[in-house]
Amino acid sequence: MAFPTHRLRRLRGTPALRALVRETQLSPGDFCYPVFACPGEGVRLPIDSMPGICNLSIDCLVEECREAAGLGIAGVMVFGIPSSKDPTGTGAYDERGIVQQAIRALKRELPDLMVIADTCLCEYTDHGHCGAIEGGDVENDKSIALLRKTAVSQARAGADVIAPSDMMDGRVAAIRAGLDEAGLEHVPILSYAAKYASSFYGPFRDAAQSTPQFGDRSSYQMDPANHREAIREIRADIEEGADMIMVKPAMPCLDVLWQARSEFGVPTAAYQVSGEFAMLRAAARNGWLDGDRAMLESLLCIKRAGADFIVTYFAPDAARLLG
Ligand code: PBG
Repeated sequence: MAFPTHRLRRLRGTPALRALVRETQLSPGDFCYPVFACPGEGVRLPIDSMPGICNLSIDCLVEECREAAGLGIAGVMVFGIPSSKDPTGTGAYDERGIVQQAIRALKRELPDLMVIADTCLCEYTDHGHCGAIEGGDVENDKSIALLRKTAVSQARAGADVIAPSDMMDGRVAAIRAGLDEAGLEHVPILSYAAKYASSFYGPFRDAAQSTPQFGDRSSYQMDPANHREAIREIRADIEEGADMIMVKPAMPCLDVLWQARSEFGVPTAAYQVSGEFAMLRAAARNGWLDGDRAMLESLLCIKRAGADFIVTYFAPDAARLLG
């Protein structure tokens, strides 16, 4: 008998055969687009470390999101850059805060576009940490009370989904209780359940001007060395009432993503973060990588590893290519 019997190359011979057996397909509806709302009018402030991404005043943000919506993306994730910051991040839960205004404008102008609110304090605190400080560290239980207020104000402004990204213990339960008490029991929670203390958030912190003014986030975000702990974090958040969970960053954490998706029945997202975006953009701009191919391959592989949807700064570009 001729050797070998199995020739896996048989199904790779033509584009049609490859299409027939392709296990994963990308489409614009897989992507959520993170956007940064800043004060002012007509403002499009480019972020140096994220070429192509800008801080946008609300009028420009609406236009940017209108275009993205037209490309068939799943939704947007809104971050706010307030005009002033303070120790307890008051701007995060101000009914007239920048993110609340942005959410209201988006839901008024583009009612069918899904708006996810990132729920955290770090863009709003003058020290840049994700909660209130006591004795030199973020105080967990005081912080979750503030996060709960933030979530309620974002949902009142019209956010379709609340996405806590702070990594305090017990925040999902606190936010769920806050929403339910406010009559917002229909608003789902997408928990950044396994969020690592990652160097890949660097460019985002330029965009949000949220680099911690002392220390780092290792006392609340996870150690990149740990996998089992990520599974415990995810389980805890689901038990507390998370409707969907997220793993962040994405490409450095495909193992966690795969296990999360296999082990739990809840919709699972991945966040391809600013540093992942910046690396690919920079290499493409230098001619070191084929930018379009590398972008689509990164997204495809994140989906293959288990992401039901992907939060990515590439959302409009990838949607345009796929459309
Ligand atoms: C807020 C938050 C961060 C990101 C998403 N939500 C920053 C951080 O934790 O430092 C990072 C997103 C990115 O890098 O694209 N806590």
